[in-house]
Amino acid sequence: MAEKEVVETSEAQIAVHWGEEEYYYPSPKFIAQANMTDEEVYDRFSLDNFPNCFKEYADLLDWYEYWDEILDSSDAPCYKWFKGGKINASYNCIDRHLAEYKNKTAIHFVPEPLEEGYQHITFQELYVRVNEFAALLRDFAGLKRGDRVTLHMPMIPELPITMLACARLGVIHSQVFGGFSGRACADRIVDSGSRVLITADAYYRSGTLLDHKQNADIAVDLAGKDGQTVDKVLIWQRYTGKASSPTPMVDGRDFFVNEELQNFYGARVEPEKMNAEDPLFLMYTSGTTGKPKGCQHGTGGYLAYTAGTSKYVQDIHPTDVYWCMADIGWITGHSYIVYGPLAIAASTVVYEGVPTYPDAGRAWRIAQDLDVNIFHTAPTAIRALRKIGPDEPAKYNYEFKHMTTVGEPIEPEVWKWYHKAVGQGKAAIVDTWWQTETGGFLCSTLPALQPMKPGSAGPGMPGIHPILYDDEGNEVPPGTGKAANICIQNPWPGMFQTIWGDRDRFVDTYFARYCKDPKSTKWQDWPYMTGDAAVIAEDGYVRILGRIDDVINVSGHRLGTKEIESASLVVEEVAEAAVIPVNHEIKGKEVELYVALKPGFEASDALAKKISDAVCDEIGKIAKPRMVWIVKDMPKTRSGKIMRRVLASISNNQDEGDVTTLANPEIVAEIKKQVQG
Ligand code: WT7
Repeated sequence: MAEKEVVETSEAQIAVHWGEEEYYYPSPKFIAQANMTDEEVYDRFSLDNFPNCFKEYADLLDWYEYWDEILDSSDAPCYKWFKGGKINASYNCIDRHLAEYKNKTAIHFVPEPLEEGYQHITFQELYVRVNEFAALLRDFAGLKRGDRVTLHMPMIPELPITMLACARLGVIHSQVFGGFSGRACADRIVDSGSRVLITADAYYRSGTLLDHKQNADIAVDLAGKDGQTVDKVLIWQRYTGKASSPTPMVDGRDFFVNEELQNFYGARVEPEKMNAEDPLFLMYTSGTTGKPKGCQHGTGGYLAYTAGTSKYVQDIHPTDVYWCMADIGWITGHSYIVYGPLAIAASTVVYEGVPTYPDAGRAWRIAQDLDVNIFHTAPTAIRALRKIGPDEPAKYNYEFKHMTTVGEPIEPEVWKWYHKAVGQGKAAIVDTWWQTETGGFLCSTLPALQPMKPGSAGPGMPGIHPILYDDEGNEVPPGTGKAANICIQNPWPGMFQTIWGDRDRFVDTYFARYCKDPKSTKWQDWPYMTGDAAVIAEDGYVRILGRIDDVINVSGHRLGTKEIESASLVVEEVAEAAVIPVNHEIKGKEVELYVALKPGFEASDALAKKISDAVCDEIGKIAKPRMVWIVKDMPKTRSGKIMRRVLASISNNQDEGDVTTLANPEIVAEIKKQVQG
């Protein structure tokens, strides 16, 4: 498939040029205080001991009723973990910590504007606010166990408060990344069947107070046209009691949370005793087709897995100050800002804005002010901070014991700067490879037990058993240097349960290709296909090369090429569209969009802008193409398939290879001239 080659070639080209790097070792000081120093952990979590090994993770939680079956695979590959168990995620993240930690900060909130200072929300305050809001959701919004509710919220403390209030009631939350458009929000409202939307009026981004309320109006309107009525929109105010958005309220539909909350002062809501396998939340992610997939995560398994990995990989102790700079609108924020850290009584930082606002020192000043000692971010942010302020970290007085990189491959050069400049050569670094679907880490070193290798994620986590399969389904053993499709041999508690409302798509996308027997109820017959290409070195360290499907990783997040192409086809002049990834020094990849027009239309800058705007409106600014090339025709195979690979090599200034077999080879030279000048 042409599309496949595009991603494989471009991603792999970066990675394959890296030789095997030297090991870096964690310091004795780090090891002395680490949560996981037991060398036998991998034996305990071997395939022979699967699935019982995961009892260790379940036992990090408080259960109303202890489970009686660790893994029910009777409906494989839809698994039930900790069957028979009753549990509540909100209780585990809040109530159970009160006895010891009620006066400790649960959430440090850092508003973007400097003059606003910090907010420190204790576990007691979190308890009060979550309870009062849960009462509002139940008694004012009429939400109950099993209902879905869409959240379209920015990085303010009310976002984790909302999530935990939903979890308290057993309401399934579906948070849409705040930067996504009203249209994208509408699609998720419709797919999840939400009749309540929870949002905020405004938030800060790079110094500007953005009007966010307007997206709610678009979302509700479009969802209504697609058959899903939203009868209540609950709006958190960025400044309580003060209007921050010019967009008017809709009578009878829109309500300010602060005003309604006054009726719930002092309310306490008994946490619902959820079945371990009841869904906790949905998180939509891009796939090979246009429609985003609602990854359904369960309660007991997900919470056990994120708690365990937060403790042993992130090395969080209740006394630490932990800052993950991701957005809670992505899975990283769900698992490693909210649920995992709070389940183990961490103090977790929520930062509203961009790390480089107003200058290159902002991130390090936050670290200094809050005495952050665990730092978690993505290569795209590391590249940006390195570019604008390579010597900046040294000016501030903070000390990280531990740092994480996540979301995309990190170049060894960038890794080394992170280690030396940000981590002062002392911090232990984990490169965590995982996905929206997997709920938590798949590959990473355990920071006190294994050395780091720049550019490699490390071996499978305890209880996660990776395997490489070639396209024919043969195993590619470690140490061959050959890239292949990385799969996981076994299920694990954090993995998603299904795609919301579409079990067939779940099976087809992730399991069908390497399934040994589609009728089997044995987990051994259902390896999980991640959709990434990887190499496994002799030492078992996994290096991820990139996606094998039509997904482009921009700033550590997945965008479906089909999604962007269909967004551009909304513009009436556009006949055909092709999206390709272009290498970018900070974002990893950027999107370029090639379009051909319907007969009778002329190319112009105005039209290119209109197409670019359409993509932003449909999906959000994150998908904004770096360039829109309006070309006379697309390079096509004789069967009419657009050759994205050829377009990608033109945009990346690479050799486009042999194009003589195309239906229209002459167009290649023409496009090349247009793009490369
Ligand atoms: C895809 C998943 C992981 C949560 C945030 C992104 C790529 C992820 C790494 C890493 C190399 C990585 C993979 C994966 N990826 N982590 N440490 N090294 N690549 O979640 O949006 O679901 O994207 O991101 O290609 O499949 P996501």
